[in-house]
Amino acid sequence: MITVLNRFLRTKIGVVTKLLDVNMSRFTMTVNPIIGKKEWAQKPEYYDYYQEVARSSYADMLHDKERNEKYHAALKKAVQSMRDQGRPVKVLDIGTGTGLLSMMAARAGADSVVACEVFHPVAKCAEDVIKQNGFEDKIKIILKHSTDLTVGPEGDLKERANILVAEVFDTELIGEGALRTFQHAVKFLLEPNCIVIPSSASVYAQIIESSLISSWNTLSPLNIAPGKFIIPPKKVTSCHGSAAVHDVQMSQIPQDKFKFLTEPVCVFEFSFTGEKSIEMNETFIKQVTSVTSGNCEIVFMWWDLKMDMDGDIILNNGPKWVQPDPDQAQWRDHWMQAIYYLPDVVSVSAGDKITLTAYHDEYSLWFAIPKASNKMVTESPTCNCLVHVADSHARIGMKNDTDRNAKFITMLKEVVTPSSVCLCISDGSLLPLIAAKLGAEKVFTVEPNHFHHNMIKSYVQENDENDVIKIITKEPADLTEEDLEMRKVNVLLTEPYFVDSVRPWELFRFWHLRTLLDTFLSPEVLVIPQCGKLKAVAVNFEDLWKIRAPVKNAEGFNLSRFDEMIQRAISIADAAVEAHPLWEYPCKAISEASNLLEFDFSKTTFKDSFEVEGEIPVSSSGTCNAVALWTDYSFQDTEVTTGPIQPIVTNQTIKWSMNSQQGVYFIHPPKEVIPDKHRLNYKIKFNISDTTFIFSIDER
Ligand SMILES: C[S@@+](CC[C@H](N)C(=O)[O-])C[C@H]1O[C@@H](n2cnc3c(N)ncnc32)[C@H](O)[C@@H]1O
Repeated sequence: MITVLNRFLRTKIGVVTKLLDVNMSRFTMTVNPIIGKKEWAQKPEYYDYYQEVARSSYADMLHDKERNEKYHAALKKAVQSMRDQGRPVKVLDIGTGTGLLSMMAARAGADSVVACEVFHPVAKCAEDVIKQNGFEDKIKIILKHSTDLTVGPEGDLKERANILVAEVFDTELIGEGALRTFQHAVKFLLEPNCIVIPSSASVYAQIIESSLISSWNTLSPLNIAPGKFIIPPKKVTSCHGSAAVHDVQMSQIPQDKFKFLTEPVCVFEFSFTGEKSIEMNETFIKQVTSVTSGNCEIVFMWWDLKMDMDGDIILNNGPKWVQPDPDQAQWRDHWMQAIYYLPDVVSVSAGDKITLTAYHDEYSLWFAIPKASNKMVTESPTCNCLVHVADSHARIGMKNDTDRNAKFITMLKEVVTPSSVCLCISDGSLLPLIAAKLGAEKVFTVEPNHFHHNMIKSYVQENDENDVIKIITKEPADLTEEDLEMRKVNVLLTEPYFVDSVRPWELFRFWHLRTLLDTFLSPEVLVIPQCGKLKAVAVNFEDLWKIRAPVKNAEGFNLSRFDEMIQRAISIADAAVEAHPLWEYPCKAISEASNLLEFDFSKTTFKDSFEVEGEIPVSSSGTCNAVALWTDYSFQDTEVTTGPIQPIVTNQTIKWSMNSQQGVYFIHPPKEVIPDKHRLNYKIKFNISDTTFIFSIDER
């Protein structure tokens, strides 16, 4: 999250003159997720910045006790070491965020601390936090990118520092520009023989076979009936995606869904102390031995940091299976682990030697097992099939999901006949191809997005359905009779899936469009799916609640000013319901699943606004820290879910679909509930431009 923020911040930052306490407004272009159209909305001035702050991982990072403790221990050791050498202690903290590491240095006895931070709202917050903790005389905050810092009597630093501390890492380690930051600092901002925290980082890789994980990256043929397939275009099957990191909570991938083909190996190390020069582009070749037979499809990656110069304090970001005490492993969401898809799949037997090649440029890593020993893939991979540009990994997984596909095929088999005129409204859907293969007379599909349009066009060509399928490059709301060749549609299809509609109820965009397009539909139209339900369950998250919980205190420093800033940003710019892939975040059910809203898509019932309220019965005692929401769709007896894939059992961990995101409404503060004593109330105010949800727990 912060990675993305930082990569574009440097270009935008110059225009910000006032910070989060301004009270003006401006017009912002946003996509309305219900009607699917761009519209101007009046938002507070610096709305984007509020949103960046609200959605950043700062709180989660500050909840990361292991990270805080290890930075603290390394700082205390460094300050003591400088004292022991009789040197003055001059600390530079790059990327100070809320000022936490600078305050640690000041409290450990540094003579001077310069804290630099490029993100203005957070730098302003650091000022408040530092003042509140009484360190304003000791810490100087500079609102700059570190590569713009000056040294000299009139400069940002009076003289070069001799301790550098920086936490500028992301899941991919270097995605926030850490290499350039350390390279520049060592050369221009530090004395010789200085201490750098962390002193180095090691990157680990483990080769994996997994059909589940591969299904998140490569589209497979879709079997519709004996001998009938939808074949992905060759350019799609031969493309392995881009270098964009696929980050996951790796410890949550069920262990029976992948096979380790090797032990973890350290593929490369970065030294940050300046002893060894930091290169922006490097290739490392590592011989690894396979521990079993299988197909080398995937690389799992993580890293660790040597915090001190001796390597005694290690901060390990690996999955649970490499942690010394897996049950005590620190939970964190600001750093996850990363998945890389190997361009050539190589089959191995136990004991085979594998030549794993690891590459990095300034911001990203990638891996390959070259089939020929002389083949080097030094260019960062790029997607040329457009699937990896148009679709997320979860969406690719959804399109490969055999259970889900089987349900849609069952629904379509019920309705598609040789006289069917179908219209599909969904982004990048394969339903039109299924309808055509099942014998529909004509299939129209609406693809306003350039990438989806091209992707579906190549599918239509590859599957020889040009005569049956017509792709319309328009917003569905702009369709005309001419687009539909003056025919009446008798089968209306959707998954529903829309790129701009990520929270569960936003998928009711289809409900809006179905009503809007009624004049193009025959009176006997069949709608697949016919029924949509918005559902909810009260839950207790093991860890996810931490991302929005106040930090209050970290390592003895008061962070209430930071909590206030985040709460203010959330209230201005963030929706009460956020989208998360819940299979990565274990939670137990403390209620049954409840239906909040239900729609019959066969009717023109869309309303611009309405209100509903009700109660979700609490069925188990426990701490309720959130409500999870999702949608189910059905036609006759066939139901497709974006939520739990097994019946919910109270007080048991919920098993969520791995290819959808669900909605999460956090209950602040979490509340202990008892079935007969408490009730969970909800109120939904649906509005075409802004839907609000309120969940509250009351005594009976
Ligand atoms: C991961 S946060 C760490 C915040 C804080 N140091 C902590 O440990 O809690 C990294 C922060 O560094 C800032 N940052 C990253 N690279 C920077 C650079 N080269 N110069 C200044 N700020 C930077 C980002 O804006 C972000 O606020």
